[in-house]
Amino acid sequence: MEICVVGAGYVGLTSAAVLADCGHSVCCVDTNREKIQLLNQGEVPIFEPGLKELITNNRSRLTFSNSVIENIGKYPVIFIAVGTPSAPDGQTDLTYVNSVVDLIAHSITSYKTIITKSTVPPGTNEGIFHKLIEKGVNPQLFNIVSNPEFLREGTAIADMLHADKIVVGKQKDDQRSLDIIKEIYQKIDAPYIVTTLSGAEMIKYASNAFLATKISFINEIARICDKYEVNVEDVRKGIGLDPRINPHFLQSGLGYGGSCFPKDVRSLEHSALKKKVTPIILQAVQSVNYTQVDYYIEKLLTVIPGFTEMTVAVLGIAFKPQTDDTRYSPAVQLIERLSAMNPMVHTYDPKARLPFAKKENVIQYENITQAITGADCIIIATDWDEFKQLDWVEIKKLMNGHCIVDARNCIDPESVEQCGLRYIGVARS
Ligand code: UDX
Repeated sequence: MEICVVGAGYVGLTSAAVLADCGHSVCCVDTNREKIQLLNQGEVPIFEPGLKELITNNRSRLTFSNSVIENIGKYPVIFIAVGTPSAPDGQTDLTYVNSVVDLIAHSITSYKTIITKSTVPPGTNEGIFHKLIEKGVNPQLFNIVSNPEFLREGTAIADMLHADKIVVGKQKDDQRSLDIIKEIYQKIDAPYIVTTLSGAEMIKYASNAFLATKISFINEIARICDKYEVNVEDVRKGIGLDPRINPHFLQSGLGYGGSCFPKDVRSLEHSALKKKVTPIILQAVQSVNYTQVDYYIEKLLTVIPGFTEMTVAVLGIAFKPQTDDTRYSPAVQLIERLSAMNPMVHTYDPKARLPFAKKENVIQYENITQAITGADCIIIATDWDEFKQLDWVEIKKLMNGHCIVDARNCIDPESVEQCGLRYIGVARS
């Protein structure tokens, strides 16, 4: 198939590369000149394991271009994969999606299947249909499909190639799109969920909101465990063995971050309020998450005497491992709070850079040894494998103090304590 993917961001690039790998001829377009230039030079503007190789291996079927309207006009299948950031009031800002729809309206002369990959609130794809009609586009010339993605940063390619489902939202009278989608994804073996346009949009939001709920739930349980000196890891294992609960997304820590959960839960709350539904659970989920970093700092102030006088080394800046993404990163929030409190904050991340302007008492080091040297306390804020495999005997020699704070419950307490260091996890007595 001939496919034009609009947007060379996270979702657009991964989708374009995977679709090319499935044998389609793909053109990925973006208005950002720098990004397209980099891609045409064989570089990838984001860090995602395996993406560079996948793009390189499929270059014969994959092109990158700034000529957005020309390519939208040329290709019969259009994937909309542009950003849908949060507006200040929490609703989704659809500016980029709307501008793609305008370009489609201006350039359409032959039949197109328009597939929305971007995460958009319920009702948006219906709105796109009406917008195109209002702009005078013949309804026989296009169909709209809502086909949300469920890929995670760091494992995006595998998540798309081995998807657990393919969600297809279509209009009732649309007889063509499902066959086209099946042809596009014929190399991907996954069950299809066919629903309405808004049904597909809702599946995406409900999915992210449910996962965020699991995380806030276990973080709240961890707060209670703390007070009763119960190890939350035992609780996680205990409840996770029940197949109705399962063990995934029950890792307590500093809370969820990233480009999806915070913005999508907020957007779903907004969609609910717009229809006069009070989303009590969604509001509670966010409330736990917003306060999680502060809750944890309060705990450190109580359990570590003289904490505010300490030089702290924060390991991890990214919102999770295997990515350089720092959007809504709890690690960044933690560094900002500590910088307002402690005399000196050292930090290190294998991939991510600090997203804020230089602060006098925050230093990002290029290697972990420098970051740890002279620290009174180390806080593991992102669960990179590199941090899980640290040699604590060597670490102790470099440190000035002896506190190891595992804010992701990702290391073995015994391995730390055996070396004469103090281990402080999240509700891990
Ligand atoms: C998420 C969804 O998983 C994915 O399906 C959707 O398409 C996009 O949003 P992503 O944002 O890449 O993916 O990250 P994810 O792995 O889901 O983690 C999100 C956040 O939750 C991270 O900050 C992570 O550290 C945190 N998390 C995750 C926990 O705190 N505990 C857990 O048990 C799992």
